Amino acid sequence: MKRTLAAALAAFACMAPSHAADVEVLHYWTSGGEARSAAELKKALAARGIGWKDFAVAGGAGDNAATALKARVMSGSPPSAAQVKGPAIQEWGDEGVLASIDAVARAEKWDALLPPAVAAIMKYKGRYVAAPVNVHRVNWLWVNPAVLKKAGATAPATFDEFFAAADKIKAAGLVAVAHGGQPWQDATLFESVALGVGGPEFYRKALVQLDQATLTSPTMVKTFDTLARIKTYIDRGAAGRDWNLATAMVINGKAGMQFMGDWAKGEFTAAGRKPGVDFLCVPAPGTANAFTYNIDSMLMFETGKSDQPKAQQALASAIMSPAFQESFNLNKGSIPVRAGVPRTRFDACAIKSMDDMTASGKRGAFVPSMAHNMAVAPAAQGAMMDVIARFMNSKMASKDAAAALAKAAKTR
Ligand code: GAL
Repeated sequence: MKRTLAAALAAFACMAPSHAADVEVLHYWTSGGEARSAAELKKALAARGIGWKDFAVAGGAGDNAATALKARVMSGSPPSAAQVKGPAIQEWGDEGVLASIDAVARAEKWDALLPPAVAAIMKYKGRYVAAPVNVHRVNWLWVNPAVLKKAGATAPATFDEFFAAADKIKAAGLVAVAHGGQPWQDATLFESVALGVGGPEFYRKALVQLDQATLTSPTMVKTFDTLARIKTYIDRGAAGRDWNLATAMVINGKAGMQFMGDWAKGEFTAAGRKPGVDFLCVPAPGTANAFTYNIDSMLMFETGKSDQPKAQQALASAIMSPAFQESFNLNKGSIPVRAGVPRTRFDACAIKSMDDMTASGKRGAFVPSMAHNMAVAPAAQGAMMDVIARFMNSKMASKDAAAALAKAAKTR
């Protein structure tokens, strides 16, 4: 009897995970492609003896996750890390609740591996507090070539070509523009239209510097006029639709095009679709020479638990490792954020992103995404997104929308 018990205990012991510590990670990667990517982080941690406590909060672009994070921090029990990016990192730093990963960042020489602008976003008062995961490009149009063929249309590079294709797809009885009627998706569409209508300088002055004259300029009115025209190609079922269900409409040939960041490519990949064959990645109309960036990062929190500092450093090191940067981004649809990751396994869309990131950086056309928390403080962003959503769901005049957007931009 004793021998059996001993054998059973021995068997159990070798089954139990031998993790030095666990990290609890808050994220909102819950779609097909996103979940496959998150699994890569869990794998990378396990290889370093760190366990993964999943704190997934569904909801594209992370509004729900941000609310859950606030509740946990205010109750004094923050997760080890959370998917937080851009100016919000500084706001959390001001709260005095962050953990530093500066030791591993210095040891691994992150300053030499990251673009200076990216390194600056990851630091609070000169010390690394967040590890960057990727670079997503937002100004993409995802196109189903079989739908184009059926409609006798071609992939658009300009707005004139876009509306010509949309008319043909609609005449063929298919949905021209797949969209989800949620504020963050409306804002994602809006910012690509602003970039295409006004160009990177206009985009930067309006949506990053929040310049009042630019926000109420004739170019902004033209942006809303163009958005109003795009609205007429979105199907009635769009209200509340999740972004990945809109992507599925393009994947399955029910719709021809979707304005969305390249996390949408993660859905095509997860569905076994090939770029250039089953789908096309086309810069949003008028934005071929520009790159709207959205960089996911894992922000580290002070938990007060003795095993966390070491585990958080290991998490940070895993995120910045070339192997993870490759495996995660192959699934996520984004591109590696650090230097030294081979391009060989990346597809044509990712290679185009890599080349366009370099080229746009050289011509001042590498701009932060407002819709994805990279450009302005959360309060102003939220107020501006409310105006855009109101415009998308009403007959609001373009001139009034521009005036309301300028007013919202003053929110602090
Ligand atoms: C973005 C995020 C991406 C993706 C997308 C849809 O804000 O950076 O990683 O998750 O939302 O949820």
